[in-house]
Amino acid sequence: MKIAIVQSFPTYADTQQNVTSILTKIESIKADMIVFPELATSGYFFTDKNSLFPHALTWNESPELLSFQALSTEHNVIIIIGFPEKDGDVMYNSAGIFMPHQEDSRVYRKTHLFYKEHEVFAEGNSGFFCVHDAKTDCTIGIMICYDWRFPEAARTLALQGADLIACPANLVTTLSGKVFPARAIENKVYVAVANRIGEECLGEETLLFRGESAIYDYVGERMAQASFGNEEILYAEIDPQSTRKKSFNSVNDIFKDRRPDMYS
Ligand code: ACM
Repeated sequence: MKIAIVQSFPTYADTQQNVTSILTKIESIKADMIVFPELATSGYFFTDKNSLFPHALTWNESPELLSFQALSTEHNVIIIIGFPEKDGDVMYNSAGIFMPHQEDSRVYRKTHLFYKEHEVFAEGNSGFFCVHDAKTDCTIGIMICYDWRFPEAARTLALQGADLIACPANLVTTLSGKVFPARAIENKVYVAVANRIGEECLGEETLLFRGESAIYDYVGERMAQASFGNEEILYAEIDPQSTRKKSFNSVNDIFKDRRPDMYS
């Protein structure tokens, strides 16, 4: 299975330009799965609901999302893209998982909100879930950026059978680079992180997004890593079935050895 990560620099508050650029990239990438960053259609740093609301999209309705779905079906590719979602008056920091068969497509609403996201988004209510792709026999779990600080996120997805965790991100710290390999090892899953680059300023405050998107194998080795400051596309070949045997010697199995009764 060939996966691709797009490290991009979204144009702030210009949905049309970002969507055009995303569609062009999808057309040019040959892979079974393509992952774009968090809030890739809008840019990140909004603290005023009224400024973001015009850029928010409705799942299964907005033409921009339907155009991603159409390319997923046409190219037989799984596409994961972060976008601001509106549901009535409420906005979520969401990621669409567009599957070639539209009935399998789903939207994940970010569970753990970071910093000033609380001023514009509601906490996600989709819960963590996986989707299964029949063509590649890959089970894909999804989380968004700051969810990385919560080991429960990756564990929940792995217990649901994820072979690969895809993480659209707008990371502002390098600490996550120490954590993603651990999540890969402790769950024996691949991890694919699509981060953005560039800066966004709002009033006195500037956020610097740290690039360095990466794909990790299930022993935590980096299979591919992007630069700090350039737009790039990363590729890796993965073998989803190889994550499923969770034993690592004749006695131990990282899932069967769990002691949930000891954890509360
Ligand atoms: C983040 O969750 N965008 C840091």
